[in-house]
Amino acid sequence: MAEATNKVDLRPSIEHFYSFPFVLVTCADEVGKGNIIAIGASAPCSANPPTIGIAVALRRYSHGLIAARGEFGVNIPRAGDLEGADLTGCVSGRDGDKFEATGFTAIAGQAISVPMIAECPVNLECKLVHTAKLGSHDWFIGEVVAARADAAAVTSEGRVDPTRFDGVFSWWGEYCAPGERLGKWGFAAPR
Ligand SMILES: Cc1cc2nc3c(=O)[nH]c(=O)nc-3n(C[C@H](O)[C@H](O)[C@H](O)COP(=O)(O)O)c2cc1C
Repeated sequence: MAEATNKVDLRPSIEHFYSFPFVLVTCADEVGKGNIIAIGASAPCSANPPTIGIAVALRRYSHGLIAARGEFGVNIPRAGDLEGADLTGCVSGRDGDKFEATGFTAIAGQAISVPMIAECPVNLECKLVHTAKLGSHDWFIGEVVAARADAAAVTSEGRVDPTRFDGVFSWWGEYCAPGERLGKWGFAAPR
């Protein structure tokens, strides 16, 4: 597996890493072969410990892999890689290798045995801590046990700056680019 040389540790700031765009979730089968699934439904769930939830339909190949291994990766793709990212949501890992199909580079996780995606500027490694059974989809809640980002996407305070890479939002069946920065949280607080 490839080595990532351009990544910095995000762990000190992960508790403040709110609001997720469109993500690519990585998982692995019983022999460690990686798979990728496009996920539009994801959310931060708690700050301390930092946890992330992803909604995965019961029929997805990835569902069984995540449930069995108890680990998954949350990778935030760039708009520049949207074609490969979209493909991961159109074909199943049951039928072929999506790393090969997309050309995405697998890099080893630091704390989990699931590959992460080198081309994604943000890589969050999660251990499954809770599964909420809600019907068509299970919400897998994972604790973030390692978090890295491309150095170029991170501010001097160690936070991911969404204006430093071309992230993507999925919105009612379409992909959209994030808009302009409108203000800091709390800008309306009484002074
Ligand atoms: C933009 C986009 C967002 C998606 N979001 C979800 C999602 O949140 N949950 C889900 O179960 N499937 C979602 N899908 C569908 C899966 O990514 C798709 O069925 C995929 O092929 C499943 O791969 P697998 O069989 O290898 O697990 C999404 C697909 C796209 C294109």
